[in-house]
Amino acid sequence: MYYKIDFDNIKLDFNTNEFWVLDQKLLPFEEKYIQLKNINDVYNVIKEMNVRGAPLIGVVALLGLYLGNSLENDMEFLKRARPTAVNIFNYFNHFKKYLGDHKNYKEKIVDFIFEVIETEESKNINIAKNGLNLIKSLVDQNKKVVNFLTHCNTGSLATIGLGTALGIIKYTHREYTGKKVFVWVDETRPYLQGSRLTAWELKREDIDFKIITDNAAAYVMSQGLVDIVIVGADRIARNGDTSNKIGTLNLAILCKYFNIPFIVAAPNTSVDYNLDNLELFNVEERSKEEIIKIREIFLTDKNYGVYNPSFDVTPHTLIDYIVLDTGVYSGPYSF
Ligand code: MRU
Repeated sequence: MYYKIDFDNIKLDFNTNEFWVLDQKLLPFEEKYIQLKNINDVYNVIKEMNVRGAPLIGVVALLGLYLGNSLENDMEFLKRARPTAVNIFNYFNHFKKYLGDHKNYKEKIVDFIFEVIETEESKNINIAKNGLNLIKSLVDQNKKVVNFLTHCNTGSLATIGLGTALGIIKYTHREYTGKKVFVWVDETRPYLQGSRLTAWELKREDIDFKIITDNAAAYVMSQGLVDIVIVGADRIARNGDTSNKIGTLNLAILCKYFNIPFIVAAPNTSVDYNLDNLELFNVEERSKEEIIKIREIFLTDKNYGVYNPSFDVTPHTLIDYIVLDTGVYSGPYSF
């Protein structure tokens, strides 16, 4: 069989054993790939966020199992690289079930990786279709432009295929006849997934956008310039509580105040069926350097105290709709 995939963000060739990921840290300035030769390379690109986005890191972590040699230990090791996104955990659990009593996991992992890739790609299309139906039901029919605001990067860079929240935006642009799409792109401090990555993707799709600082969102909303806010998810609990990039909670609270629909979009592989809610959920805390330093330049005194939670938790009560590949849900949620 010919085991090869070639996406912009990930290129895997199991015939030649060559594996490459796009270094997202260098975007939008350079498009360079990093070769992954062993499990430590995989751990490092996930930990250092050269690859990021919940579904993509899940797939890259599976590649780590292929490149490692002790299933249980390797799984524990890789889960520690980025603990918030549930996808790594879900894919590993699914792989154990898929393996059953089969002793040689290396014989099975490649098939499993390709199954995950195919499924994620088609889940993204279903999310986009479900999302567009929802958007059509929310948008004033007389409006010529649908004005979205989005946070972080949830597109083709973060996933396999079209993307989740950004996938819906792209699909609306392609398929909603007679409507234009405009996107307010939250820059997404501190890693700048919005201004570097989402902007890069929107430009390639020829979608009109403007970058704003995260703290400009309230003002832009107050001017009536936002119709719909749509974000992704790293983990959704059974009651709809959602963990996503830091700053998501701010947007959800603002949407309640300004009466703007707040939508979360994700594949159902981002649902954690083991968690009833995220009330006590611990999110990943990242290094202080991400906040006080850009490349080699310090923005403030390096001795100042810094708190850098990478994600926050949006309670289900603030989420108007959750769009999964399986359908569109509104509260009360019970996944
Ligand atoms: O820290 P990141 O860049 O990996 O975080 C990504 C996000 O928070 C995304 O919004 C989320 O993973 C969904 S990706 C489809």
